[in-house]
Amino acid sequence: MPQIIDGKRISQEIKDELRDKVAALKEQGKEIALAVIQVGEDPASSVYVRNKKRACEYIGIKSLSYEVPESTTQEELLAIIDECNKNPECNGILVQLPVPKHIDEDTIIRAIDPKKDVDGFHPMSVGALTIGEPGFVSCTPAGIIQLLKRSGISIEGKECVVVGRSNIVGKPMALLLLRENGTVTICHSRTKDLREVTKRADILIAAIGKPKFFDASYVKEGAVVIDVGIHRNENNKLCGDVDYDDVAPHCSAITPVPGGVGPMTIAMLMNNCVESAEMFGE
Ligand code: GUN
Repeated sequence: MPQIIDGKRISQEIKDELRDKVAALKEQGKEIALAVIQVGEDPASSVYVRNKKRACEYIGIKSLSYEVPESTTQEELLAIIDECNKNPECNGILVQLPVPKHIDEDTIIRAIDPKKDVDGFHPMSVGALTIGEPGFVSCTPAGIIQLLKRSGISIEGKECVVVGRSNIVGKPMALLLLRENGTVTICHSRTKDLREVTKRADILIAAIGKPKFFDASYVKEGAVVIDVGIHRNENNKLCGDVDYDDVAPHCSAITPVPGGVGPMTIAMLMNNCVESAEMFGE
């Protein structure tokens, strides 16, 4: 049977390391704060925001909470971001996405000071990653690198296939695997023979956004399979992009859903907040 990559355990390990770091920073008189901005009351967003605030509390990061109504204008939201950009106490700014339709997401992302861009979505952060300069990295792909490293899986020289090309997961994932000296292929909906490509993967990153899309026919014997998907199946149970029961017996290692990639995203957000305070804090 494969090694089950335990994201819950690894994320807890990271949060505990960060808690110690934050305690040490406090002894030097350094407090860390994250601005958490939510526009409207989308139920899924409310769950994410609550979990992010809980993680802040656990680690010892102060959360500066801005919960504003759906009717908030773009100008009003930009004014909040400006206030956070200027606030020396605030180390990171997180605007929970999606924002309501009358607000332009790109304008919001670009308004965040790159020094406080703990989500790693600003074009400056993405550009820095692309040319190998320091900067904040999108949390889900950064978390996947931690899952691999902390499970003793080396990336160097491996055939890495990323299925999905979103700005938040697929593209930064490919760049991070490249930075670790993987041989990287990105696939997407127009890829001609997807199975033929994924079958070559030593490390397969499944981020296609379709429930249980990948069965064993897509996977090489002994591959490492990382499942980024999160869906509810017909019985309201959580499942990923990978048909776990079919694929797992053929892998050397695999992430479960839930309890794989999911918990890593918040852990890496917390990591980015601490890094921000260490690099730019007063
Ligand atoms: N909405 C879904 N995932 C994310 C995320 O990682 N960051 C933000 N800001 N919004 C999200």
